[in-house]
Amino acid sequence: MNPSRRTLISRAIATLALSALSALPALAQGLPKLKVGLMLPYTGTYAALGNAIENGFRLHITEQGGKLAGREIEFVKVDDESDPSKATDNVNKLIKRDNVDVLIGSVHSGVAMAMAKVAKDTGTVLIVPNAGADAVTGPMCASNIFRSSFSNWQPGYAMGEVVAKKGHKKVVTITWKYAAGDESIRGFKESFEKAGGKVVKELTLPFPNVEFQALLTEIAAAKPDAVYTFFAGGGAVKFVKDYAAAGLKKTVPLYGAGFLTDGTLDAQGADAADLLTTLHYADSLNTPRDNAFRLLYAKTYKLQPDVYAVQGYDAAQMLAVGLNAVKGDMGKKAEFTAAIEKAKIDSPRGPFTLSKSHNPVQDIYLRQVGGKENKLVNIASKALADPGRGCKL
Ligand code: PHB
Repeated sequence: MNPSRRTLISRAIATLALSALSALPALAQGLPKLKVGLMLPYTGTYAALGNAIENGFRLHITEQGGKLAGREIEFVKVDDESDPSKATDNVNKLIKRDNVDVLIGSVHSGVAMAMAKVAKDTGTVLIVPNAGADAVTGPMCASNIFRSSFSNWQPGYAMGEVVAKKGHKKVVTITWKYAAGDESIRGFKESFEKAGGKVVKELTLPFPNVEFQALLTEIAAAKPDAVYTFFAGGGAVKFVKDYAAAGLKKTVPLYGAGFLTDGTLDAQGADAADLLTTLHYADSLNTPRDNAFRLLYAKTYKLQPDVYAVQGYDAAQMLAVGLNAVKGDMGKKAEFTAAIEKAKIDSPRGPFTLSKSHNPVQDIYLRQVGGKENKLVNIASKALADPGRGCKL
């Protein structure tokens, strides 16, 4: 074949190839992998929570065939150690060094607030898959910041009403001294005192200390009608065991935000039996959606899911909604945000929408520990929306 004929043929092939390419949907054309920055605790008292969130997040991506809106996913992981003092550096590295497209994190409220500040300043999309810091969907709210979990106020507020209805008048609270503990207690106190109860003592210890003995002695001396608490992860395991060992379980009913008994029941054993807590998830919802999720999670990880797994899964669902609306182009920020704002997320916990400040509007369940499960008792608060105080969106 002479050279000019060869050139003609190869040009024709190139043209054909080009037109075949342009027939593909735009989203499949050369969009690079989507870089997801997972900033979670993989060590310390919240390590199990971070792992469950990552499992849940990955499960949804696997269900979607490993891609969202046609883009493959690449993970960049950071162990934030639940340490707020390292959080700003960690999140800046993810954004500036690793060039992540989206941030997922974290568990600890102090870490999440540092992430929210950087996300707001840089415009990077942030989906918070646990940390309840009221400020994130309050004064720090932003169009690019979303939460798939809860605000600290929500389970606390729901439990204040439950404890008041039980007829308890005098309550002592005990928690870690940081945003999550403070805000959970504040939510509890708001509804409990509105209903005529009184929080007579607020006990605290620094996060993540677990030297509860002196405080348990104070509770015994104060003889309240009940105790309300926020603890989670490894600290929750130890607190429930110490409360029972001090003999208090038989004399002073213990109530908590549901983290007290979520993902912890294997380790707490009989010491957690019958405890009542409030949360946006329960292990026995028995809906087709939740049953399918639980089965798939158990098969995939040889583990039972918990609330953290659900929140991670839903963070991926929210990201998928936004990405699908912009065909994988995260540059289209306004459309990305609008799609998530108007979505109904088909969560294993039950469908939810987002409030104006981007926090889930959701049922808060009253649950009771039975065996290895947080069993559904009833809905303590239907479609409870965080008030989003201080958010201007
Ligand atoms: C928080 O710091 O906001 C936090 C941590 C662990 C939980 C719940 C909330 O289980």
